[in-house]
Amino acid sequence: MASLDSVLTCIDLNLDQSLGRLFELLRIPSISTDPKYRSECRRAADYLAGDLAAIGFEASVRDTNGHPMVLARHEGPEGAPHVLFYGHYDVQPVDPIELWNSDPFEPVVTEGPDGAKRIVARGAADDKGQLMTFVEACRAYKAETGGLPCGVTILFEGEEESGSPSLLPFLEGHKDELKADAALVCDTNMWDRETPAISTGLRGLVGEEVVIKAASRDLHSGYYGGAAANPLHVLSRILGALHDETGRVTIPDFYEGVDEVPADVKAQWDELNFSEEDFLGDVGLWLAAGEKGRSVLEQTWSRPTAEVNGIIGGYTGAGFKTVIPAEARAKVSFRLVFQQDPEKLRENFRRFVRERLPADCSAEFHPHGGSPAIQLPFDSPWIAAASEALSEEWPNKAAMIGMGGSIPIAGEFKNQLGMETLLVGFGNGDDAIHSPNEKYEMTSFHKGQRSWARIIERIGRGVAA
Ligand code: BES
Ligand code: MN
Repeated sequence: MASLDSVLTCIDLNLDQSLGRLFELLRIPSISTDPKYRSECRRAADYLAGDLAAIGFEASVRDTNGHPMVLARHEGPEGAPHVLFYGHYDVQPVDPIELWNSDPFEPVVTEGPDGAKRIVARGAADDKGQLMTFVEACRAYKAETGGLPCGVTILFEGEEESGSPSLLPFLEGHKDELKADAALVCDTNMWDRETPAISTGLRGLVGEEVVIKAASRDLHSGYYGGAAANPLHVLSRILGALHDETGRVTIPDFYEGVDEVPADVKAQWDELNFSEEDFLGDVGLWLAAGEKGRSVLEQTWSRPTAEVNGIIGGYTGAGFKTVIPAEARAKVSFRLVFQQDPEKLRENFRRFVRERLPADCSAEFHPHGGSPAIQLPFDSPWIAAASEALSEEWPNKAAMIGMGGSIPIAGEFKNQLGMETLLVGFGNGDDAIHSPNEKYEMTSFHKGQRSWARIIERIGRGVAA
């Protein structure tokens, strides 16, 4: 225990330095989805590999068809477990840029309404701040003890925010290097400021871009109006038909593979004392818009969705232009739960669109990733070990929660490498990930480091399989 105490003290004493390192990483605009930032993604990978090598990991940057992977390895004591830590160095685009109070890639520390310090930058919470909590815990361990309490392989990818297209082939191609006793992921939230959380489920995701094509060119909306098909109308009618008046998705077979949450899990969720009013109130809303008769926790954790993420088409510039556009497009995503099959759903959606097209219009589809939901076993010894360690650090014991977001690769650690995944994160619901003014609480960054030090120390003492 003496060594864990000195590691924790080392973390406390070096908070400013660790913040400086996080700032360096946050200054790199590693937006994976936009080809303009390709070299910045590589720069982030190089930075991380360099930092891990400086700690004493055997670290390298590995090329893929997309953005590179960072792979680093450090052996643990003889006989101790070995873990694979996964995180992503890519970030979401910053638009609408005019809503940021400061440059998204010039991190600043500000004070929140509660007076607490927060780190503001794109990627502060998702996922650079979170992944650095683990790196800093390893750094402090090495500095204080000369080693790590368990074996650690670190895998950072740069395409999580675009569906992780290169990761599955990478897992398949590097099984020997990546195989470990369990995967650790730091890309999820706490339950509240005082209560750490272990996420036991994540929703899956299917992304689709649909382009509706009508006339061979943009048309004068007076000369042709009334006669020519308007693809914006066609598109909006189709998108509007995705839900019925009870909020259910109307795509045939959509609910195939969707189960009800077991009674004991529901009972646990009830004990969390979740406030629907606060959850929606925090973002200026008060009416749960999803399926009627379902709680907000069900709507976000255990029910599937269809969401339109963007609609593009026609004249949107200054002033006014009377035009019937030749095409209209939308970006649509579906969150999946339980056993829903991503590719079946994609096909069913495409059929749903095609069946609603006028005969002289056509539709084109562009896939944007697909991953199934994951559900982790509640009785996993990894969860028990992490929960024990987290309870030493935080005022409240760890909550077992669901998470509405997706980490596309999470299920593949089990499928490809036969490993359990442990989802522990220190984000907060108001971190504004994917939004302007994304932030990470300083306490998340600080106590997140301390939490990981405790967790790897606990794992080092052995986890009964
Ligand atoms: N870190 C998030 C997942 C998440 C969201 C965790 C909310 C906790 C709360 C992750 O980086 C993410 O945003 N994933 C994307 C994946 C997609 C773009 C392929 C998502 O869920 O939309
Ligand atoms: Mn993330």
